[in-house]
Amino acid sequence: MSDSKLIDPFGRNIDYLRISVTDRCDFRCTYCMDEDVEFLPRRDILSLEEIVQIATAFTQLGTRKIRITGGEPLVRKNILQALEQIAKLPGLDELTITTNGSQLEKMGQDLFNAGVSRINVSLDTLKRERFAELTRRDKLDQVLRGIETVSALPFQQIKLNAVILGGHNDDEVEDLVRYALAHNADISFIEEMPLGVISHHDRAKVYISSDTLRERLSEHWQLSASERSTGGPSRYYDIAGERQQIGFISPHSHNFCSTCNRVRLTAEGRLLLCLGNEHSMDLKSIMRDNPNDDVLLRQSIIESLALKPEKHHFNLEEEPQILRFMSATGG
Ligand code: 5AD
Ligand code: SF4
Repeated sequence: MSDSKLIDPFGRNIDYLRISVTDRCDFRCTYCMDEDVEFLPRRDILSLEEIVQIATAFTQLGTRKIRITGGEPLVRKNILQALEQIAKLPGLDELTITTNGSQLEKMGQDLFNAGVSRINVSLDTLKRERFAELTRRDKLDQVLRGIETVSALPFQQIKLNAVILGGHNDDEVEDLVRYALAHNADISFIEEMPLGVISHHDRAKVYISSDTLRERLSEHWQLSASERSTGGPSRYYDIAGERQQIGFISPHSHNFCSTCNRVRLTAEGRLLLCLGNEHSMDLKSIMRDNPNDDVLLRQSIIESLALKPEKHHFNLEEEPQILRFMSATGG
């Protein structure tokens, strides 16, 4: 049972906060941003102190789980110190991180020491040239070494995240599962979401449903729907004879909004109530106008929940309604 003080108008208990610590990234994934994307000016980004202050307020309101994302969170300077402070917050059960893996070889041990318990690593392909096309950076080997590093450390869980684009990498789902199994990792397949305008491909044309992928994987592995629920959008399947699981995040084919337990803090300090809507509260302005007023900060967070929409409406046939990229939002 959670003693969260954050309940939204639809009765959902919000006990999970995702924090984007930067919109910057050392990759340029084609489904996420264009090559010449403009990043936010530094003064518009929350300081690490402000981030820790907001994380503190959330844990005081009953938040049990915090995930650090980006952009690429590990390119933010001094991120380890902030992680250490957040991991120690009373009431927090889990501090997790989502990363593109580029810094894991270097930072894996430090992340473990800082108190990070689980890591999600984005990995869409195992082919070097394809990786260079999809991320616009020739860094596959570096990412694979990073995954090896963290899979040898005693983290509670390593999970791979693969965004699957029909005609681009859908022929690799079996190989990605084999790779995950060989590295003691779970794996989730993600349907691309229409966040931000991109030029690389037509999202409607490359759409491939989670059900299609699951049927394909069922030809090789015996999959059964898992009891496990992480309170997240992933629907998990057990693999007969294996400890790892396969998850599917299906914003198009299986709407998961009714069990949504999360809100997101953007890199510029907006508390975003839903990934697929613009409803938000500008916590940065509130904090900068009223420095060190923790009571006001907590009150503002509680009030913001009234803005949480019931669900997202994604339509791949239309121009994206949401103009921000995942990198600014916090995946
Ligand atoms: N749709 C779906 N997933 C996305 N990601 C980034 N942009 C999108 C998008 N438009 C993924 C990344 C990473 C996770 C945080 O979000 O690949 O795995
Ligand atoms: Fe960077 Fe992640 Fe976006 Fe790729 S998906 S460009 S790794 S933020």
